[in-house]
Amino acid sequence: MKTVIELITDEVKQAFINKGYDEKYGFVTISNRPDLCQYQCNGALAAAKQYKTAPIKIAQEIVDELKSSASFKEVAAIMPGFINITLTDEFLSDYLNRMRADESLGCEKDPNPRKILIDYGGPNIAKPLHVGHMRSAVIGESIKRLLRFFGNTVIGDVHLGDWGTQMGLIIAELKRRKPELVYFDEGYEGEYPKEAPFTISELEEIYPAASAYSKENPEFREEAKQITYQLQNGHRGYTAIWKHMIDVSVTDIKRLYDILQVSFDLWKAESDAQPYIPDMIKYLKDNNYTRISEGALVVDVKEETDTREIPPCIIQKSDGASLYNTTDLATIVERMELFNPDKIIYITDKRQELYFETVFRCARKTKLVREDTELIHIGYGTMNGKDGKPFKTREGGVMRLENLINSVNEEVYRKIMENRTMDEEEARAIAARVGLAALKYGDLSNQISKDYVFDIDRFTSFEGDTGPYILYTIVRIKSILAKHAELYSDNKEAGEIRPAGSEQEQALMLELCKFNEMLRSAYQELAPHRICAFMYDIANAFNSFYHETKIITEEDEVKRSSYIALISLVLRVLLTCIDILGFTAPEKM
Ligand code: ARG
Repeated sequence: MKTVIELITDEVKQAFINKGYDEKYGFVTISNRPDLCQYQCNGALAAAKQYKTAPIKIAQEIVDELKSSASFKEVAAIMPGFINITLTDEFLSDYLNRMRADESLGCEKDPNPRKILIDYGGPNIAKPLHVGHMRSAVIGESIKRLLRFFGNTVIGDVHLGDWGTQMGLIIAELKRRKPELVYFDEGYEGEYPKEAPFTISELEEIYPAASAYSKENPEFREEAKQITYQLQNGHRGYTAIWKHMIDVSVTDIKRLYDILQVSFDLWKAESDAQPYIPDMIKYLKDNNYTRISEGALVVDVKEETDTREIPPCIIQKSDGASLYNTTDLATIVERMELFNPDKIIYITDKRQELYFETVFRCARKTKLVREDTELIHIGYGTMNGKDGKPFKTREGGVMRLENLINSVNEEVYRKIMENRTMDEEEARAIAARVGLAALKYGDLSNQISKDYVFDIDRFTSFEGDTGPYILYTIVRIKSILAKHAELYSDNKEAGEIRPAGSEQEQALMLELCKFNEMLRSAYQELAPHRICAFMYDIANAFNSFYHETKIITEEDEVKRSSYIALISLVLRVLLTCIDILGFTAPEKM
């Protein structure tokens, strides 16, 4: 379905043509003076330059031409040459009826759908998820859903960090604590136990202990390095422990992602890319892409037009060890080979921007990707505390994601229970849903690249620009619809939406008509915050309509059923939006 702007633009362009002007001046935008009109065209101002005449004269000619159109209630030429446009109420209600009849609420699929791989989440084995991992997961999940909504084939990959030096450190520490374990018996040839020799809490305690110990003990550090090397070269016992570490960790990571309602199609890890490294290095060398710099193997990726220093991409250190770079490049090779995507999107902290720029340039220059495969990095800002510094626990440590989620749910629970009684279990279940909305909306309502302040009081408030307010609005509509169905069981099918009968109803309709327009720009810009802003406008418009209108008690059946059709559409639109953002609404709250 064409967007409202497209429909108006068609008419305005035709008017420019009819009056002998170029149609390119007929572009229309949403009004920046909603008190004066709904839409506007500023083309006469630009056209005046080309046709060497007064802008107001052109504007007036266009207005005269548009006067006969059935779509417009008002069109006016305003000094110095603006064209102000207000749609008829019939136009709005017709548009909404068409939207209702369409399964996708008037949104058209992308005519050129693509195969897109998204790399998000990025948790590391044996380290608890912290708040930094939340942004990647929450943003990635919503971008994945947004891309799918428009018909793309999307593959989400968690890209587990399972290959760094921390693996050797943990094994070394385990060996120090429990040298008797069979994994450390070099002569052992039998099967290793199925059960891991540690629980997730032990594992999470081991890593920081090992890391601290290695800082003061060079021998231990050396041992860990040796173990990492042996592990990466297939040592049987270490490999068996490492697999346990992955199993135990992944079980816990999955549990947390379930709570966040974040999911992945692929559970690939950094280690999966390792087999691709030797051939990749050979290929890079054979094709003369590399040079040796201070013993390391590098690819230059500087370009003449660079305005900042772009370092070379280091492929291999002088001791032959590979790096984060190497793994990411090999992962690109792996992804091209297994999935041949048209686009790969990485969602990480924005501080990795230069890093990805280097990796992407290297992949492009050395043709590890097809010429038309897009590589995109979306860098997110930091989640700060109220003091403006990266969010910490009260004690100043890194906040575990699980604790953050729990504290949000607890706060929502407290609010739900204020001044009323509800079954404990039910209230907890509702709090978990509302809490997730508070957290995700609090995150996604900001432009991705911006830092934001995590403010639990504001995020969990049932009023204002928050997730709970949106859910509250949804629950309110659901309860009106349920009541209506109960009272008028013979009249379940809502009728047509009729032209607005009040200012509030008209305002709500106008907002709803912007849905496909908004969603398309959210898609083109990969900007979930646009969806949040739209939902907030809709919720406000709905609530003022609700306060001014008797819906259920309206005696005129035609009016009543038009209201019901309208608010059912509001509900569908809001549910579609929250689904794309990755949360759900309870039945009551
Ligand atoms: N595991 C990394 C970290 O915790 C994030 C990985 C991001 N993805 C990537 N392909 N490099 O920082």
